[in-house]
Amino acid sequence: MPQDTSQSQLLPDAQTVTEVQHYSDSLFRFRVTRPASLRFRSGEFVMIGLMGDPNPETGKIKPLLRAYSIASPSWDETLQFYSIKVENGPLTSKLQHIKPNDQVILRPKPVGTLVHDALTTAKRIWFFSTGTGIAPFASLLREPETYERFEKVVLTHTCRDLADLKFGEELIHATKNDILVGEQAQEKLHYYPTTTREKSNKMGRVTTLLEDGTLFKELGVTNFNSINDRAMVCGSMGLNTDIKRILEKYGLKEGANSDPGDYVVEKAFVG
Ligand code: A2P
Repeated sequence: MPQDTSQSQLLPDAQTVTEVQHYSDSLFRFRVTRPASLRFRSGEFVMIGLMGDPNPETGKIKPLLRAYSIASPSWDETLQFYSIKVENGPLTSKLQHIKPNDQVILRPKPVGTLVHDALTTAKRIWFFSTGTGIAPFASLLREPETYERFEKVVLTHTCRDLADLKFGEELIHATKNDILVGEQAQEKLHYYPTTTREKSNKMGRVTTLLEDGTLFKELGVTNFNSINDRAMVCGSMGLNTDIKRILEKYGLKEGANSDPGDYVVEKAFVG
């Protein structure tokens, strides 16, 4: 049954939902108004959520917040988010029912490691993602700095099924037709989606395709190393650990906001 989210109207930090799109039983995206004072760097995340149910003993209602990557660039007028739906998930079981004009809570304190400031400049940038881990790259792919700093931009997205790739396909289409970055994206952006369960044109985990050389061969990439390549990784724990190991094997060193390096990693958030 749809949840009543109107109670959050009384809250500070409430933002209005402007758009909702469902991709499947387990994935959806939505947009909310942007607080006038919110400044963030493309790739960062914020805490968002709804009011929880009243405590049965005290009757008190507390906000239910989770970290969500902002899936739109720093210059955009509204904020986009990409979310899974978990049937018994405290937040997403409710959040999946939001509609335009409903309100959500947004704590305007953006943070994160998947930002340009954490990487030094090189020839290529690789964005490795699984599932909803693609969200921060939906921000970075529409960020002009991405194309100003790198000659080649690669987004890999590994998902179980074809329906899970829809958000990324729409993102690539929108990016290549974007007023600000479209022209550069058409020249520099390479999209590499794979599925692991449902049959598709390209099957397998990106880690396997990296290690057996398929990915480099298909993208015409030679000399993958710490001089030419930078990477950002966002996905399941397994992806993050495996890609980190592979990148280190090629000599790349982890960076941070305070100490820019060759690659950065962040766990995809779960509702
Ligand atoms: P697989 O189907 O082989 O587990 P999940 O839905 O479990 O978060 O997984 C999302 C996608 O990430 C799936 O396609 C899954 O593949 C893939 N995946 C999981 N672990 C890894 C890993 N260590 N390296 C690469 N891809 C992974």
